[in-house]
Amino acid sequence: MTSYIHGYVPEEQERLLEQAGLLGPLIYPRIDFDGCKNILEIGSGVGAQTQVLLSLFPEIEITCVDAEPRQIEKAKNNLQSYESRLSFHVQDARNLDLANKFDGAFLCWVLEHIPNSQLVLEKLNEHLEPGAKVWITEVFNSSFYFQPPLEGLSNYYDKYNNFHRSLKGDPDVGAKLGNMLSQAGFKEIELFKGGFHLSQHDSESLKKITTYWKGLMKSGAAAMLEVGWITKEEVDAMEKDIETIASDENAIFSYQFVQANARI
Ligand SMILES: C[S@@+](CC[C@H](N)C(=O)[O-])C[C@H]1O[C@@H](n2cnc3c(N)ncnc32)[C@H](O)[C@@H]1O
Repeated sequence: MTSYIHGYVPEEQERLLEQAGLLGPLIYPRIDFDGCKNILEIGSGVGAQTQVLLSLFPEIEITCVDAEPRQIEKAKNNLQSYESRLSFHVQDARNLDLANKFDGAFLCWVLEHIPNSQLVLEKLNEHLEPGAKVWITEVFNSSFYFQPPLEGLSNYYDKYNNFHRSLKGDPDVGAKLGNMLSQAGFKEIELFKGGFHLSQHDSESLKKITTYWKGLMKSGAAAMLEVGWITKEEVDAMEKDIETIASDENAIFSYQFVQANARI
């Protein structure tokens, strides 16, 4: 598979579990698989979202697909107690090739990492039964806004997103979901914005989310440092700036992801 900005070290696999827990209240309120039996999850990673889906929808079985064997191994471990409701496949989602069809599909934080991700939606289409429900949640990194203005964070964020693009990923893929789904033949497409707009009026959430954001940003550091895309000093400056925001009396910390719902 192509290079992956977050890498597959154990700390990153753990971060995905924490992320699913922290952002769950923002992601799941709309997700609806009622009436579905067989869900396909593409880019299932270590099973962090899979676990949430299995507990929210006790009737469903999930087929997990990820391109990275280490993620699938970890997911099998993490999800042992749900074994009878799961199957796993190591596949590149652009060449998805499964024997059965599904009445639902779930994708979260994955299309951003896949070059030519339109191919994933086309392959997905072929693997769905008529009327199947699809839920996709993806990044829209250009929506990030913060105050006070801080050079270390701005610089790191630009480099992070440009590094992502250099790997042929798309840090704004969420913004494009409507067009992508439509071009892949999906119908009844609805788009929703989710995310956070925080300031000191809710200092607890500000602290929690800025701490999470620091971890998210740092998860790209090893790959960028390895190829000399960024220096250790730039990583330190980003971390210091995020801590400054958390304690600034005029702090603003705002980000929107995009969630799409469609049928085939
Ligand atoms: C940021 S993780 C998200 C994992 C999970 N959806 C979650 O929210 O915890 C992205 C996942 O996409 C997988 N991935 C990257 N490229 C892929 C591809 N071409 N086909 C299938 N999975 C891919 C990675 O291995 C990784 O596990």
